[in-house]
Amino acid sequence: MFTGEAYTKDAALRLLASEGEDLLRLYQRADEVRKEKMGDEVFIRGIIEFSNICARNCHYCGIRAGNKGVSRYAMDADEILETAYSMVGTEKTTVVLQSGETPAFTDEELGEIIRRIKGETGLSVTLSVGSRPLETYRYWHDCGMDRYLLRFETSDPELFRRLRPGSTLEERLRCLYDLKAAGVQTGSGFMIGLPGETLQVLADNILLCRTLDLDMIGIGPFIPHPDTPLGDEKNAYDDNREMFFKAIAVLRIFNPDAHIPATTAFDAVFPDEGRNRVLKVGGNIFMPNNTPLKYRKDYLLYPGKPCITESAEVCTQCAVMRIQAMGRKIGTGPGHSIKKRT
Ligand code: 5AD
Ligand code: SF4
Ligand code: FES
Repeated sequence: MFTGEAYTKDAALRLLASEGEDLLRLYQRADEVRKEKMGDEVFIRGIIEFSNICARNCHYCGIRAGNKGVSRYAMDADEILETAYSMVGTEKTTVVLQSGETPAFTDEELGEIIRRIKGETGLSVTLSVGSRPLETYRYWHDCGMDRYLLRFETSDPELFRRLRPGSTLEERLRCLYDLKAAGVQTGSGFMIGLPGETLQVLADNILLCRTLDLDMIGIGPFIPHPDTPLGDEKNAYDDNREMFFKAIAVLRIFNPDAHIPATTAFDAVFPDEGRNRVLKVGGNIFMPNNTPLKYRKDYLLYPGKPCITESAEVCTQCAVMRIQAMGRKIGTGPGHSIKKRT
């Protein structure tokens, strides 16, 4: 957004409609805001997809409970810890533990894993394991959890209800407020182009991120998975994929001091270059896959996911090279939120 303008829905819609010279200006402004607020460092965070067991049935997701074709796995605590240890001394200063919304681990088991990673490696710890009660978030925070990722997926309550049976947007937002109340650095975000999403919804999604005052915001294109109820649908911007990058740029302008990752789904849509382009229009985080190779092919939320056969070392080096090739620096230190909270 350009000087003096308010952060309104109309402004977001206007920016999302940019074409030609205006579009170049939008991208340039987003990159300037990123540089001004977040600097040139790109933080690398290693993600461990430690279980693909999920009790939910989100209509878009390849590992939904109803997909019987998925071979289910859960890493045990030792294997998770060993994988986390392997990040020590690399460019990755945060471990992100992600799984389905699974009852496979108790709160205490996960708490112990957090405590040990935190105590024994000094890495920052992010969890992403779905909607949980406030007490659980508080408990994990006491164990040493620094951050939590929980996308709201869409700001349209009706679309949310339809695509995530058995849950409501209101409950999801409650979790986000609980995380903040528990003192956890909170990340959220949404998918771009869910079937039924309009530009109005996209603008609302961006505005909701701003209202939530998030520490991190991860967004990525919706990619239809053949073995899901949305398998025959298309991304709402299938004919206009530039919208994915416009969304990132507007998101950055509306959220100047939030961490914005270049999410993996961008590389699924634009192989080898999607994530680079995100880093050029507002992104400042790269999250290479750190899941042990033998599990990678079983964590397919969407088809075309990259890095299924590349080891953690290869992905990390790939990330380093991509970041440096665009003249940016590798982030050092914990990579916490830059927002000051009282
Ligand atoms: N396409 C793109 N992103 C997806 N996710 C789940 N399924 C898909 C899909 N088909 C995203 C959701 C979820 C995150 C872990 O992955 O936003 O929160
Ligand atoms: Fe489970 Fe998350 Fe997939 Fe929904 S999006 S089915 S909660 S893993
Ligand atoms: Fe995995 Fe490039 S990030 S190969």
